[in-house]
Amino acid sequence: MSTFGLATTTQEPDLDTAMKVIYQWNYDPEVEELRSLYHKATEAQWVAERDIDWERPIDHKKFSTTPLGAAIPIEQTSYWRSLDEEQVWKMTRATASFRLSNFLHGEQGALMVAAQLVNAVPHTDAKFYAATQTMDEARHVEVFAKYIKKLDEVRPIAPALKTVLDATLQTDDWMKKLVGMQIVVEGLALYSFREMRNLTEEPLLKHLLTYVARDESRHHAYGVQYIARCVPCLDDAARTELEDFALEAARNLIDRRNQQTFLTAVMQIWNELGIDAAALLTCVQQERDELTRNMPKGRRLGPVQGFVIPTLKRCGLLSERVAHHYLEFLRENLSGNLVGKSVEEFLRYVPDLPEDTAAWVLSESH
Ligand SMILES: [Fe+2]
Ligand SMILES: [Fe+2]
Repeated sequence: MSTFGLATTTQEPDLDTAMKVIYQWNYDPEVEELRSLYHKATEAQWVAERDIDWERPIDHKKFSTTPLGAAIPIEQTSYWRSLDEEQVWKMTRATASFRLSNFLHGEQGALMVAAQLVNAVPHTDAKFYAATQTMDEARHVEVFAKYIKKLDEVRPIAPALKTVLDATLQTDDWMKKLVGMQIVVEGLALYSFREMRNLTEEPLLKHLLTYVARDESRHHAYGVQYIARCVPCLDDAARTELEDFALEAARNLIDRRNQQTFLTAVMQIWNELGIDAAALLTCVQQERDELTRNMPKGRRLGPVQGFVIPTLKRCGLLSERVAHHYLEFLRENLSGNLVGKSVEEFLRYVPDLPEDTAAWVLSESH
């Protein structure tokens, strides 16, 4: 018997949004860089079913030896080393599926925002581009869901990510949608995909992330090129509002309390697997010095300082006023010497965006 119905048991109650729809009667190219990005995107389409070898089993050994990518290498603690092969596989599998599930849910958010952008942006070239992004995001949802299914199970969305997606979907302001999705969420995603792609030695995951990251670098380029065009047309009040929207989204995603919620969820999963998560964390604390001794020296910029803030700067959305707020909240969440002592120093530390984001995302350098 078919289980098809108009309402599904897995959907969430309707989210009310305030989107305005815009018709555009000029079909000629107007924003050249967006038209050419659209052409590039149509050329770069790939087919998940055909281009990825889904028959290939997940390589357990390579998966288990891939570092988790935490700030401190948990996998080098004495506790971790005392685990047997089967326990390590279970731990890495569950942890990765938790992370990948959030990528997956983020992709669904991106899919819906991209589709909204088709309706909401006023320029034809921008509508065309958003249409290709919608297709890309559908494919990303498809591949992450497929991979997680092979690996483990889909876990629920992190509340902080849901808050940002809701706000981006609900706003009636298309520029806020662009900033929330293309700059903040996709900026963080691009950074995380790159990190995971570099760390993982599991061939199927690496292959899939290569395809996805390539698409994402285009999505980021769309945000940068379009917003950088639009910002000079805004008055001060509108620009301030936009800066604050980005700030709020970024704050939500890396806030220490939200990170704590994230860690608590992971620890709960570990405990369910029979691992004493509290003992593991105690071990991390006790062995911290030894564990960090061989880590690369120098300042490691996280995704916000290393990528989102440089993007905002490029778009003209990093005034001294908002930089001050970023400095404050980064200081609350990271140690002071990582972010600069004053706004001037902080602004001096903002790195340039990579010349070629597509090349950067696939490169292994830092
Ligand atoms: Fe995506
Ligand atoms: Fe994207």
